[in-house]
Amino acid sequence: MLNLGILISGRGSNMESILRSIKRKKIPIRPAVVISNKPDAKGLKIAESMGVSIEVVESKGFAGSRAEYDKRVMKVLSEYGVTPKNGLVCLAGFMRIISPEFVKRYKNRIINIHPALLPSFPGLDSQKQALAYGAKYSGCTVHFVDAGMDTGPIIMQAVVRIKEGDTEESLSKRILREEHRIYPEAVNLFARKKITVSGRRTIIS
Ligand code: GRF
Repeated sequence: MLNLGILISGRGSNMESILRSIKRKKIPIRPAVVISNKPDAKGLKIAESMGVSIEVVESKGFAGSRAEYDKRVMKVLSEYGVTPKNGLVCLAGFMRIISPEFVKRYKNRIINIHPALLPSFPGLDSQKQALAYGAKYSGCTVHFVDAGMDTGPIIMQAVVRIKEGDTEESLSKRILREEHRIYPEAVNLFARKKITVSGRRTIIS
């Protein structure tokens, strides 16, 4: 069975939805470890209460380069069996850019969720960006991670209509509901080897 590593920095609600779905829907993947770059990430407690191993690789005060930090993360992942051959890495609110070295080693094995319909509104504060732009629709995207910022091949998207009077908070809340639905679904597809990458496209069988 594949081994899953989830990287978080905070709340961990996407992590929780993935872990719950693995149990409930019998997704054929073993939640091996949750790693946070912040020791006080709320998600760590949730993971622990769900019986998943947790690790902290603190980024604050880390003197080395991005590649050196990621080397540490990759070491922890490997120790838990989340390897480039037998692993999947889910970024779930992990507030760090991944180094090209990490991306290369885990090619097409790192996925991320982004709270907008990529390629619109990449980077931070996507819900705020969508509102400021006056978009009528936004949503969320699960995609493979490549060396760019939110640029990898798209696996799944869900559309959310923007209502008049929406605030960043109300829109984020509705998008988050969709995130919790499609992220576990994408993990399920990956675990069942139903995703093939062909250039920029993914083919779901
Ligand atoms: C989510 O909105 C996700 O799309 C973005 O960061 C947020 C993380 O939330 N990448 P949570 O930690 O999963 O609750």
